[in-house]
Amino acid sequence: MVNKVNTCVFISGNGSNLKSIIKSSREYNFPIKIGLIISNKTNARGIYYAKKYSIPYKIFSNLNQKDFERKSICEIKKRKIKFLCLAGFLSILSDSFIKTFGFNIINIHPSLLPKYKGLNTHKRAIENKEKFAGCTVHYVSTKLDSGKIILQKKVKIKKKDTAISLKKKILKKEHQLYPAAIRKIFS
Ligand code: GRF
Repeated sequence: MVNKVNTCVFISGNGSNLKSIIKSSREYNFPIKIGLIISNKTNARGIYYAKKYSIPYKIFSNLNQKDFERKSICEIKKRKIKFLCLAGFLSILSDSFIKTFGFNIINIHPSLLPKYKGLNTHKRAIENKEKFAGCTVHYVSTKLDSGKIILQKKVKIKKKDTAISLKKKILKKEHQLYPAAIRKIFS
């Protein structure tokens, strides 16, 4: 078994990207293993995957940002985590949290950054009559959705696309892009 980097994933929702990372991490040559999952929402459906694959998890919900980060850092240190992936994590991390790590944090965003930072990316891309949309895996910096880009994947926006159909189409690409970006980082 290769020496895999002990990784934590932060989630808030469905966890479909978490699932694709977990599945890849079970491949012999994949560079990371998931040693911890942290959710900031009690009812995050992604917790299902933590249970299914017997991965340690913590739910730190209904906390202010400071307390969430304090508890997370404590758990991350306890479990000797060396890398952090945000996957549908719907909260902004403080500058001090990002700096505390001294190791990389990455995120996936459903747009072709630097276009459409923030929320409602699919709707805004359609309203602006963009020909292409897509997704981006990037390093997390202290500015929202602005860290260095690792990998992007484009999809064509068709005339009949709605925000919902585009979201589905992009999500499928995200599931390929996130593991590919992790491979790229550690190659
Ligand atoms: C994805 O579209 C991701 O790009 C965005 O939030 C969504 C999360 O989906 N940040 P899931 O929880 O991984 O299914």
